[in-house]
Amino acid sequence: MAGYLVEDMRKVTTHRLIQMKQEGKKIAMLTSYDYTTAQIVDAAGMDIILVGDSASNVMAGNVTTLPITLDQMIYHAKAVVRATKRALVVCDMPFGTYQVNPTEGVTNAIRIMKESHCDALKLEGGVEIIDTVKKILDAGIPICGHLGLTPQSINKFGTYTVRAREEEEAKKLISDAHALEDAGCFAVVLEKIPAVLATQVANELKIPVIGIGAGGGVDGQVLVVADMLGMTNGFTPKFLRRYADLSTIMTDAIGHYIEDVKNRDFPNENEQY
Ligand code: KIV
Repeated sequence: MAGYLVEDMRKVTTHRLIQMKQEGKKIAMLTSYDYTTAQIVDAAGMDIILVGDSASNVMAGNVTTLPITLDQMIYHAKAVVRATKRALVVCDMPFGTYQVNPTEGVTNAIRIMKESHCDALKLEGGVEIIDTVKKILDAGIPICGHLGLTPQSINKFGTYTVRAREEEEAKKLISDAHALEDAGCFAVVLEKIPAVLATQVANELKIPVIGIGAGGGVDGQVLVVADMLGMTNGFTPKFLRRYADLSTIMTDAIGHYIEDVKNRDFPNENEQY
């Protein structure tokens, strides 16, 4: 059996993720946005599949995550849920669906849960959205927080540089993480912050801290599937490890297909009726 394949095929729950942290077992999380990819990711033994609003960039070619709509996120989440047997499926609440007020936030959260059948939601932000977070949790919906370089705030940041290098922002991030844990979130994602700070947060919290560009001292890692498979060539942050060069593999395969069609080599006698 390949090292990465898991023997325990029970559905991953938020409770089990917290147990994994207590037992010192690292958590693997990866995005997916469609049925075919999610089937492969789930069968490989992923603990959490994130239907990220990075679908806005990866699937639709937008520059930021801001344009993706609630209907579009539900469409992607439904496809991923249909494909997934084991992983916990977490869906991002898209920009504009939870920032206005707690009532609108919980209404939209319930819609995602009811229509997509995903297991949990992810929201970006700390104390400024804590009333909404509490209201959604009160409705029985598990929430994963997201702090640091939160892409829905990219226009406010004005840069994709590392966040919370300065003491004031680092202090706020620590108190935001505690506020999310105290509210009842089951996990927090920390994006693109210094490794030392992320490790401190992971040590202080009882819930799992999942990092992206946050070093190895946290409880788990998340990457965007198209980036780690080498399908997106223009995106080369320091934290990204590419596990394959699918772009080259796909271009070669597609090139051969074009050649075969043009040379009348495809289809051959065995490939017709
Ligand atoms: O949308 C996304 O893919 C994310 C990850 C980068 C954490 O939020």
